[in-house]
Amino acid sequence: MSRVAVVGGGIIGLAIAAELLRRGADVTVYDPSPDGTDGAWHVAAGMLAPGGESAFEYPHLIRLLEASNELWPAFADGLGDVGYDDAGTLGVALTADDVAESAREWKHQKLTPLTGSQLRDREPALSPRIRAGVFAPAERQVDPRKVVAALRIRLAGRVLTRRVTDLSELDEERCVVAAGCGTAALTGLPVRPVKGQMVRLRGEPGVLRHVIDGTADGRHVYLVPRADGEVVVGATQEERTDRALTAGGVHDLLRAALDLVPGLAEHEITEFTVGHRPGTPDNAPLLGHLDDSRKTVVAAGHHRNGVLLAPITARLIADLVLTGSADPLLESFEPGRFGCA
Ligand code: GLY
Repeated sequence: MSRVAVVGGGIIGLAIAAELLRRGADVTVYDPSPDGTDGAWHVAAGMLAPGGESAFEYPHLIRLLEASNELWPAFADGLGDVGYDDAGTLGVALTADDVAESAREWKHQKLTPLTGSQLRDREPALSPRIRAGVFAPAERQVDPRKVVAALRIRLAGRVLTRRVTDLSELDEERCVVAAGCGTAALTGLPVRPVKGQMVRLRGEPGVLRHVIDGTADGRHVYLVPRADGEVVVGATQEERTDRALTAGGVHDLLRAALDLVPGLAEHEITEFTVGHRPGTPDNAPLLGHLDDSRKTVVAAGHHRNGVLLAPITARLIADLVLTGSADPLLESFEPGRFGCA
């Protein structure tokens, strides 16, 4: 049985470790605060949005996102109640300028434009001022906090509190570095923090049925409604390393949220959170061997798509660790592609 160390106990590290365990590996996860809430997963809303969250000029990433999206129903099923919801996403645009900005993306995704009243037939809480939008049935949601809790249970006794500062400390035969933004210090790879501010609201369950991904007067926002009445409002995207919650960040999120769904004004604010997505120079993940020794595999830099990419990352990285063979899907995500490992 292979002994494998996984460095990083966020959604990517835990998903990989659970897959390795399922395939018979003797796996240990190392994280400085395994019960903590520092990871990007804690802040993430859990949109599973291969179209809405991708840079459409990068087809290799879209293929990976779509492949992972297909794995999500079975992955969620295997974890129990993790808030997986397939009601779909409504992309919406408030003004004519917002429509013009969004239309290119909708066209690329081959989605049929809907009028404001067609959108309100599907989602009555939407503002009558919304000009146009689309329905994206394949863009779903899950609750990342429930996913991480379920994965931790599956890995009980195998997640240890330990800060790894040098990979040479590890005596396992194989090592997976899935340490999010911490991957840079461990490997020298270019993973940078990309700040996101979020607001969580709570109101009557059922006010919103779909995920709403919209633009209102140039402000982009997404609204992810949970079955219990929580609505996650996100997110700023800032090239900053601080954890400050700012007046401008929160204002823009709430302004756009209320412009699109006026009834949210009655919701209670339950949480403000700030986190950092692990970005890379092309904002696509780093997936593959760290170097020619082939002892260490990297799975990091998932930027805006860590939750969506968890199942495919787990499957492909487990293959690589246990068999040494890289699926063709991984070709474009070589950790050394920027030449700075
Ligand atoms: N995937 C949503 C975000 O990164 O804000």
